[in-house]
Amino acid sequence: MNISIFGLGYIGTISVGCLAKSNHHVCGVDVNSIKVEFINTGKSPIVEKEIDNILFEQRRKNRIEATTDCSKAICNSDVSFICVGTPPTPNGHLNLEGVYKVAKEIGCALKNKDSFHVIAIRSTVMPGTNERVAHIIEDLSGKEKDVDFSVVSNPEFLREGTAVHDFYNPPYTLVGSSCEKAVSILQEVYNEIKAPFIHTEIEVAELIKYVNNAFHALKITFANEIGNICKKMGINSFELMDIFCKDDKLNISSKYLKPGFAFGGSCLPKDLKALNTIAHDFYLESPVLDSILKSNELQKEIVLNKIIDFGKPRIGFLGLAFKEDTDDLRCSPIVDVIEKLIGKGFEITIYDKNVHLANLMGANKDYIMSKIPYISKFITDKPEDIIANVDVVVVVNNEKEFIKILDSLPGNTIIYDLVNVSFQNKISINQNYTGIAWK
Ligand SMILES: NC(=O)c1ccc[n+]([C@@H]2O[C@H](COP(=O)([O-])OP(=O)(O)OC[C@H]3O[C@@H](n4cnc5c(N)ncnc54)[C@H](O)[C@@H]3O)[C@@H](O)[C@H]2O)c1
Repeated sequence: MNISIFGLGYIGTISVGCLAKSNHHVCGVDVNSIKVEFINTGKSPIVEKEIDNILFEQRRKNRIEATTDCSKAICNSDVSFICVGTPPTPNGHLNLEGVYKVAKEIGCALKNKDSFHVIAIRSTVMPGTNERVAHIIEDLSGKEKDVDFSVVSNPEFLREGTAVHDFYNPPYTLVGSSCEKAVSILQEVYNEIKAPFIHTEIEVAELIKYVNNAFHALKITFANEIGNICKKMGINSFELMDIFCKDDKLNISSKYLKPGFAFGGSCLPKDLKALNTIAHDFYLESPVLDSILKSNELQKEIVLNKIIDFGKPRIGFLGLAFKEDTDDLRCSPIVDVIEKLIGKGFEITIYDKNVHLANLMGANKDYIMSKIPYISKFITDKPEDIIANVDVVVVVNNEKEFIKILDSLPGNTIIYDLVNVSFQNKISINQNYTGIAWK
């Protein structure tokens, strides 16, 4: 395939070399003629393991060239990758001027090209950028998006220092696109890369790079704060984190990484508080650990305010315990929300097949009685009470039984979903529906 790559920095240079090695013909484009000259003489404009040899070899095989002439590069290629820099602006956004400048150049060049052209944005950009780039190209070329050309999001996950290895071994190849034809062309471009190929919505692909990097930064900071506490306690933090990482069932896994409602239960809030107290006892500042409970409280406020905003008096809750398959009410976050709604005069009905007040005992019973002494007034053991008597149903946990109840609701009942029942159970809900953190 014939490919043009805009921007011969770290990402562009690696892409030129590695895509040429995957048997494509690649033309690099940059405004910097010195970088162009480097590529044309088979040299690398960046320092990176293995790339010098790859560029030298691929140039020798005539699979690589470079130019400052955008129009020539577009006319001689089927796919263009935008890899220009997106540095931060003083207010913390990304400066996308480079991306839009390339979009304008591509728009002008496409005016004179008849065949379908794919533009893949490899630079890290804000959600909405693909859409704007497509409009710029439509305006300047007179061509139609997803008919004559297509703009897809194809974020880059490589790390400097191991960039060539990472190019060939990504966690996955991700393409955000609304155009099947463009997706199959990208599949062809990456056919040598042995990694899962994921096709998703454009905005998901645009945002994921930020989410990845925020998570990596969070991991480093979390480990540092644990290290600081360990140091004060004379505990070997490296050994501790080494063992921590060996738990790939709960710690290093997809568990606890789905958006939704606040956490609760008898362990997480209590033990987190205890760890923070240890840090405070050593006069250690641990802003990340310190902010977790605050963030959790905010999640309860979001739910409370949303329920109030519905403006309906009768609220039903499917689930009261802190998760499904348990009757443990201790620190169940929805209890705090219900307590506040009762105080504001809302009419509450709660159904949770695992919670039988007569059977509660010990700390579990004491907890709920201290929070909502007249809880029995609000609990029903008949799902029909939820179906018949409420304006809003809040889905608190993912009991399988709830699907049938949701299915039987009158059409005007609002569903407020805190667990994403439809996604988790692969069902569709044709109701007045709102998810806590999704559409
Ligand atoms: N460096 C990384 O490790 C890394 C990893 C993943 C993603 N990214 C993202 O990839 C993008 C590129 O990063 P980089 O580090 O390669 O940038 P860079 O600053 O090293 O290179 C950008 C190149 O774009 C060129 N350029 C600017 N405007 C141009 C134009 N109109 N036409 C042609 N060329 C133009 C510049 O001359 C420069 O050579 C950024 O959005 C970055 O966030 C970088």
